[in-house]
Amino acid sequence: MSSVDSRQPGVAQRIAELRQTIDYHNYRYYVLDDPQIADIEYDRLLRELQELETQHPELVTPDSPTQRVGAEPIAAFGEARHGVPMLSLDNIFSEAELEDFDRRVREGLGWEHVDYVAEPKLDGLSVNLRYQDGLLVQAGTRGDGRVGEDITANIRTVRTVPLRLQGDGWPELLEVRGEVVIRRADFQRLNELRLDQGEKPFANPRNAAAGSLRQLDPRITAARPLSFFTFGTGASSEPIDGSHSAVLERLRQWGFLVNDQVKKVVGAEGCETYYRDLLARRDELPFEIDGIVYKVDDLAAREELGFTARAPRWAAAHKLPAVEASTRVASIEPSVGRTGVITPVANLEPVAVGGVTVSRATLHNLDEVRRKDVREGDTVMVRRAGDVIPEITAVVVDKRPAAAEPWEMPASCPVCGSEVQRLEGQAAHRCIGGLYCPAQQVGAVIHFASRKAMDIDGLGDKLIEQLVNKGLVRTVADLFALSHEQVAGQERMGDKSADNLLKAIDRARKTTLPRLIYALGIDQVGEVTANQLAQHFGDLDAVMQADEEALQTVPDIGPVVAKALPISLPSRITAT
Ligand code: IVH
Repeated sequence: MSSVDSRQPGVAQRIAELRQTIDYHNYRYYVLDDPQIADIEYDRLLRELQELETQHPELVTPDSPTQRVGAEPIAAFGEARHGVPMLSLDNIFSEAELEDFDRRVREGLGWEHVDYVAEPKLDGLSVNLRYQDGLLVQAGTRGDGRVGEDITANIRTVRTVPLRLQGDGWPELLEVRGEVVIRRADFQRLNELRLDQGEKPFANPRNAAAGSLRQLDPRITAARPLSFFTFGTGASSEPIDGSHSAVLERLRQWGFLVNDQVKKVVGAEGCETYYRDLLARRDELPFEIDGIVYKVDDLAAREELGFTARAPRWAAAHKLPAVEASTRVASIEPSVGRTGVITPVANLEPVAVGGVTVSRATLHNLDEVRRKDVREGDTVMVRRAGDVIPEITAVVVDKRPAAAEPWEMPASCPVCGSEVQRLEGQAAHRCIGGLYCPAQQVGAVIHFASRKAMDIDGLGDKLIEQLVNKGLVRTVADLFALSHEQVAGQERMGDKSADNLLKAIDRARKTTLPRLIYALGIDQVGEVTANQLAQHFGDLDAVMQADEEALQTVPDIGPVVAKALPISLPSRITAT
C-alpha cells in the first residue's frame, strides 16, 4: 500500500484505489499479456489519477503508476552498489562441453543425477533491482559487477518492473535480477516509427534496449517498449525458498515477468534436448536469444559448488550460433531482375551467420544504400533475423578505407546498356530495355517455365541462362523452336535429358488460359488477376484486343494496370 496523506482522507483513498487498479491492469497487460479492460478505459483511470496528483502534489509517491512517464533529465548517472556481486557465466560451445560441465557438477556434489533449470539467455542488458519493504528503491546496471550505474529513474518507466511488489512474503530487502530487452515485434514497430520520423533505425534489439536504458532523460526511456524478464535474485535479507525453480515461482507471484520457456530438466541429456528444441524454435520466439543458461536447481547444492573468480560453478551459458557477424563488402553489384528492376546487391566476404554462410545481402534500392551509407570496401555488420534474407544492419565507419566513395546507381543497364530510369513516386530504378535486355529475357523465360506458370520440368535457371547467352532463346516463343542438337549441346545435358526437356516443352503447348496469361509475366498481373482476365475474356486474342476501358470492367483491374496491360502484352505475346 502506498503512503498517503491522512489530511485528505477522501482524495487519498481514491488515489490509493486508482493506483491499485491501474497497477493491476498494468500487470494484466504487460506481464500476463492478458488485458482485462480496453486501452481507453485504462487511459481514463490514469488521467483521473494524474489530475488528482496535480491537485495534490504532496500525495505523489515514487511508486505511483504516474511516475512511469519519466522524470526530469539528470546530468549524469550516480552509482548503484550491488548487495552481492553480479557475476558472469562460463560459456559452453558444444554438447561435449555441456557433458563436461554436468560431470564436474555431479563430481562436485557426489550426485548421480542433477536437476537443472534451463532458461533462454536473453540478449539485452543485465539489471539489478533493489526492493526495500516491497518498494523499488534502486536499479543499477551490471557495471564492473560490484558497482553499476544508477538507472532507477529509467527503470521506473519499464512497465514489466513492479514499482511495488504484489502479494506478500517477500524479504525486507530483496535484489531481483534480470534482463531488459525489446521484443522483436516491438523492435520492428520502434524502427518503423523512427524511419517515419526521419531518425536512424537501431541496428538490433540489443542496441535499442541498451541505448534506451542509458538515457539521461527518462522520458526518452519511457517512450521505448522495454521489457524486463527476471532470471533470479541477488542479495536477500532472508532465504526465499530451497530451489531456483521455486524462487522463480515466488518472483512470478510478486509481479515479475518470468520467461515462459524456462523449464526444469534432468541431467546433461535433459539440457541437450532443451537446447535442440529451443534452437529449432529460435526464430519463432518473440525475443532474441544468444544462448541457453543451465543452472543447478537446488540452492544448497549451489552453495556447495561455489564460484571461481568470475563465474559460478553451478551454472553455464550454452552459446547459440551468432545471428550477427562482421565482414567486408567486396563489391556492390546492380542486379537486373525479371521486370528490369535494378537491385543493389552487396557481395560479401563469406561469413557464418546463425549457422549459415552468407556471401550476398540485398540492399533493396538506392535510398536504402544512401540511408545506410554502405560503400565498397566497408566493414559491415550482417544479421539474419528469423528466416529472412541476410541484412546489412550497420557500417563500421572507423574501418572505412580512405578511398571509399558513396555508391551510385549506374546511368545505364549493366547488362544491356539501356537507360536506367526511376519512375516518379517509386523507390526502384529500372532498365528500360524490356525484352531487349538479356537479363530480362532470362528473367522472363525463368518465370515462364516456373511451377505456377507453364511448369516446364528440367528447364532450370542455369540452362535458361546458357540458352539466352548463346542467342538460342530470346523470347519464350523461341523455346518451342529449340532442336534436339541445340538442347543436347548445353552443359550437363545428355541425349536423354534433352529428349525429356523437349517433351516437357511440347506438353506446355497445351495449357490453361489463366496459366498462360500468368506465364507471360505481365507487369502487375499475378495469378489472381490472370484468372480474372481469363474468365472475363475467354481467350488470349480477346485479352489482347481489349482496350483500357474494357480492361477496367474486370474485377480488381484498376486504371494503372489497365493502362499498362495493352502496352506490355504485344511485346511478350510472341509465345503462341
Ligand atoms: S544468470 C551468476 N540467466 O547473461 C549468474 N543470465 O553471461 C548470473 N543473461 O550478466 C546470470 N539471460 O546479463 C542468467 N536467463 C539468464 C540470462 C542471463 C541473459 C545474461 C546476464 C548475465 C550474462 C551472463
